[in-house]
Formats: sequence, C-alpha cells, structure tokens
Amino acid sequence: MKGKSYYGKNVFVTGASSGIGKACALIFAGNGFDVIGVSRNTEEKTERMPGGGSLTLRRLDVTDEAAVREFVEKLPGVDIAVLCAGMGVAGPAETTASELTRQQMEVNYFGTLNAAQPCLGRMRRQQRGLLIVIGSIAGRVSIPMQSQYSASKYALEAFTDAVRMEMRQYGVRACIIEPGDTKTGFTDSRVMQYSDNDSDNYSSICRKSVARMASDERNGRSPDTVAKAALALAGKKNPPARVPVGFEYKALMLLLRFTPDRGKEFILRKLYLDTK
Ligand SMILES: NC(=O)c1ccc[n+]([C@@H]2O[C@H](COP(=O)([O-])OP(=O)(O)OC[C@H]3O[C@@H](n4cnc5c(N)ncnc54)[C@H](OP(=O)(O)O)[C@@H]3O)[C@@H](O)[C@H]2O)c1
Repeated sequence: MKGKSYYGKNVFVTGASSGIGKACALIFAGNGFDVIGVSRNTEEKTERMPGGGSLTLRRLDVTDEAAVREFVEKLPGVDIAVLCAGMGVAGPAETTASELTRQQMEVNYFGTLNAAQPCLGRMRRQQRGLLIVIGSIAGRVSIPMQSQYSASKYALEAFTDAVRMEMRQYGVRACIIEPGDTKTGFTDSRVMQYSDNDSDNYSSICRKSVARMASDERNGRSPDTVAKAALALAGKKNPPARVPVGFEYKALMLLLRFTPDRGKEFILRKLYLDTK
C-alpha cells in the first residue's frame, strides 16, 4: 500500500459521486486503500486500481437512516469513514422556509449522523478507527445569507468534538476538515430562496451575496486539495481536531481566533453584504 495508514485499509466515503467525496474516494483507492463510496446517483461498479487498492461505488441516500445502518453493518470493514455528502441552502435567515431548513439539516447533519453512528459502533468494537467529517469554514464563522447551511456545519463541529472525546478511550479518532471555497458541483446544486418583492432591496442584496459566493467557489481550490488533507490524516495516530484547507484559510482561522466578534462581523458584512 502506497498510502500510510494508522487505522487500516477499509475506507467508507459518502458523497462519492462528485466534488470532494469523489476526490477522496479516488485518492484513497489510488493509494492502496479499499474504498466503498456511496451517493444517490451513481453507476454501481467495482474497479481495481493500479496501486493495489479498489473503488466500489454504490447507490445510497444518507437521509435513509435504516438503509444506511444496514449498508454499513454489511461492509467488509470500516477503518476510516470520510463523510462528505452535503448540499447548500441560501437565502435570508428571516424568510428561509422551514422545509428547506429541514432539508438542509436532513442531508448535512442527520445524513452525516446516520452514516457516522454505525461506523463508530464498528470502530469501537474493533478498538480502532478514524472518522473524518467534511465541515466548512462556515462551521466556524456564520456566513450571511447562508444561515441554515452555517447552522448545519456548526452542528457537525459540535458532534465531532463530542465524538473525539467519547471515543478516544477505544482507539477511535475523529476530526473535521474545514474547506473554504472549492470548485465542485456544490455551487450549481445550491438551493436558493428569496422573495421577488424587492421594495426594500432585500432580495437584491441576497442575490448579489449568493452570486459573490458562487463566483468565489467557481474560482476556488480543487477538491483534490481537500482529498490530500484527508489522506494525510490517515497516517496520523493523533490527528488534529480541525483542518482548514490551504494556507489562506489556515491563516484566516488563526487571525479570527484573535479578532473580536464585531471585527469578524465587519469583515463578513463587507465580503457578503456590501456587494456593489
Ligand atoms: N464546494 C465548496 O466550496 C465547499 C466548501 C466547504 C465545504 N463543502 C462541503 O463539502 C461536502 C461535499 O460537497 P462538494 O463541494 O463536493 O459538492 P458536490 O460536488 O455537490 O458533492 C456533493 C455530494 O454529496 C452527495 N449527496 C448529496 N445528497 C446526498 C444524499 N441525500 N445521500 C447521499 N449522497 C448525497 C452527492 O451525490 P448525489 O447527488 O449523487 O447523491 C455528491 O456526491 C459538503 O458537505 C459541502 O458542504 C463544500
């Protein structure tokens, strides 16, 4: 096996049909790991990779708790789980419909939970494992016009922190990767909701703000950079709790640690609400 692994070679990836999940599935399989990747829309197949690894793709909706549990229980092994499945909802906090908020939480939070729980059970029983959750910079600072997306990612931070403490005694590690703008299918899949009534300029601010985010994502990093960060974690006995991806985001997270809330919000307002 080319890739270093402290945990074993069986990797389970959610959201493996596109973007970050696809890049993670490919990098692990290309480095000698046996990867099983799931998503709703995929051609089911198994491929042997040149480095001795393998990639199996299966259809699975992470919001179907019973199906996910049954699937994970039947996996040949789960040493590392990389939970990437997710989507984004954008719109003003005041008006985002509760169905959309529920959809956001169903996929990003409950979907991750549905996959994490049976994986953690197997890892605890074998006294070894690594849970890698794909969070976001939006799980560390709330992004205007993405309140529900940010809430779903903050929830994942809280979940992963608690798992890390609870499971340490069983040899199970948990960490969260926090990508910034990344060029994937995420931008086009985003669900947006804002009213067309623009008497007070609200929807036009929202529209411009979302256009700004979309443009930053389209010009963002390749998902391969996130996959490399995930692969590196597999070789660490004590991986860091959180992993921002890229020098600029690592520096930003450090800077924000010492910036008072007012300062943080000034910067975020300038970035996302002051779009000329
Ligand atoms: N792109 C960014 O700028 C960025 C930044 C920070 C964090 N992230 C996070 O990175 C993760 C991956 O997103 P991405 O950027 O790679 O976007 P993407 O290219 O749209 O990939 C999303 C993946 O999630 C899968 N998925 C969505 N709903 C699912 C469900 N109910 N069940 C199973 N799979 C489901 C999709 O596959 P199917 O549609 O086939 O099911 C797809 O494989 C997300 O958690 C996102 O929040 C992205």
